[in-house]
Amino acid sequence: MATDPSGFAHHFAEPDLGPVVVAEDKIRARIAELGAEITRDYADRPPLLVCVLKGAFIFLADLARAIRLPVEVDFMAVSSYGASTRSSGVVRIVKDLDIDLAGRHVVLVEDIVDSGLTLTYLRRNLAARQPASLEVCALFVRQGNQKTHEELRYVGFEIPPAFVLGFGLDVAERYRNLPYVCEFRGSA
Ligand code: IMP
Ligand code: MG
Repeated sequence: MATDPSGFAHHFAEPDLGPVVVAEDKIRARIAELGAEITRDYADRPPLLVCVLKGAFIFLADLARAIRLPVEVDFMAVSSYGASTRSSGVVRIVKDLDIDLAGRHVVLVEDIVDSGLTLTYLRRNLAARQPASLEVCALFVRQGNQKTHEELRYVGFEIPPAFVLGFGLDVAERYRNLPYVCEFRGSA
């Protein structure tokens, strides 16, 4: 079994897996808090949760169950990184939403905001569909990397510069199923 420098035994053995950045219990506790906040803020107007695939699928699943309101859920898929670890700044909608956003209270559920370029594109794209309101809930924000200043209504964790894996986040489509977040030790 691969271990990180502190002796943490990883979910499965792979040389790419580095030190743990956010542990499973910390993520669980924070998502419960975010769910409670959203429950409070949207008590009189159950939101439509828009999940940005693929990275946000695990966060969405846990967040939706932490919200005590009859939410609706829809999915869109965008591609911005390809198989590398740096944002190209070019965002492509690979799958669009099924539900019409007009007049809806939308919460955009994102895995991680790095440069912010993906979010800037998505926000503009969704705002054009005339929702009644549009807020962002991001599980992770990478400190000091944003090239744009998007308003983030709900943020799980601010994390240091290292590229990370797990809890939905991948490198070349792998490691999304780690139940915690750790540093990527390989090169891409
Ligand atoms: P941005 O456009 O630079 O903000 O990048 C946002 C997208 O890049 C996220 O939705 C992720 O899919 C991906 N991404 C950014 N940082 C990481 C990371 O550390 N690990 C895995 N994916 C990442
Ligand atoms: Mg990705």
